[in-house]
Amino acid sequence: MALRNIVKFGDERLRKKCREVTEFNDKLWVMLDDMYETMKQSDGVGLAAPQIGILRRVVVIDVGEGPIELINPVITSMKGKQREIEGCLSSPNQWGYVERPAKVKVTAFNRYGKEFKVEGTELLARALCHEIDHLNGILFTDLADEMVDVEEEEDGKKKKR
Ligand code: CO
Repeated sequence: MALRNIVKFGDERLRKKCREVTEFNDKLWVMLDDMYETMKQSDGVGLAAPQIGILRRVVVIDVGEGPIELINPVITSMKGKQREIEGCLSSPNQWGYVERPAKVKVTAFNRYGKEFKVEGTELLARALCHEIDHLNGILFTDLADEMVDVEEEEDGKKKKR
């Protein structure tokens, strides 16, 4: 495994619509492993392939319940609303309130090309929406209704300043 460079806001690659994965091969598996390692190294809860400069529909998420790998993910259902502070590894010093669905259902493929479903509420719902947005060139700053200053607590939680 290897760490990849994270593409930052302002880079055109973050504005592209990513293409579907068609081959579930060892090249994809290395990419997934690298994405997970890169996300963990940066204390993130999610990372999308365009954030390492690869314009494919691939996402990794870990909100503290173990890794979830999503290939060609599609949101099939959204219910309710939540509004919370969000950030992005591609813009480490920006934070803002984003309204997201309270609950989402997603269908995706795993690294072997097998279809599966995942349901998320709270942080997982937000991460699913945020990362899938990345695959369509959408950044959280496009959706934020209020940007805020936050400082990081020792436990890793973000607190409004
Ligand atoms: Co992001």
